[in-house]
Amino acid sequence: MAKPVRHTFDTRAALASALAGTIAAQLEDAIETRGSATLAVSGGTTPARMFDVLSRAEIDWSRVTATLVDERFVPPDSPRSNAKLVREKLLQNEAGQADFLPLYSPAPSAEEAASTADNALHQLTEPFDVVVLGMGADGHTASFFPDAAELETLLDPHTQRLVAAVNAPSAGEPRLTLTLPPIASARFLALHIEGAEKKTALDAALAAKSRLPIRRVIDAAQSPVEIFWAE
Ligand code: 6PG
Repeated sequence: MAKPVRHTFDTRAALASALAGTIAAQLEDAIETRGSATLAVSGGTTPARMFDVLSRAEIDWSRVTATLVDERFVPPDSPRSNAKLVREKLLQNEAGQADFLPLYSPAPSAEEAASTADNALHQLTEPFDVVVLGMGADGHTASFFPDAAELETLLDPHTQRLVAAVNAPSAGEPRLTLTLPPIASARFLALHIEGAEKKTALDAALAAKSRLPIRRVIDAAQSPVEIFWAE
């Protein structure tokens, strides 16, 4: 395991500013080096403040393609939609010029939507320049829920799939998620967590011979995971 790098902040606002600045710098470097940049972000409730700061970064967003680390299998106008969160909080201001590749599409099943998203993401250049993970107190990240029926397939380092469907009782609705390889190969891989409960859960996952999904992602990461945490 490449030892994770911890960044601790006194306030969530300071974390948002620092993480947004770091992401913007990574994207700008990718644009300067390779002419374009790719960004995959998680949803949930944690990232909104950081997205708002990042949306104001003065980089050439017209050369950035953004997508999601994972998505609930719900329409884009659902309050549960991560695409809705990204469109409202990230793809505004300067970042409104970025291309966005959602994972959800109307399909009879999450599996069929995942296949459509998988085909679409295979059109992007790999590896992702930036991937931003969140984490649940149960140690899940992306939609790698510990009780997911497909967990070992999702965490298979040799899978050719970039996007897969997830059915986990603890997840609420069916999910669509990046698999382990596109996450682990990211040039810059950040974990954004807030609050004491998640810090305790992360410390436990890092300390013991844990098999929690977050630990397996950190162990598989090709570059040190940059952990951004505030109380
Ligand atoms: C999702 C996220 C998920 C999230 C964690 C933390 O779709 O819910 O992508 O992986 O990062 O569940 O969620 P919170 O930020 O809401 O605590």
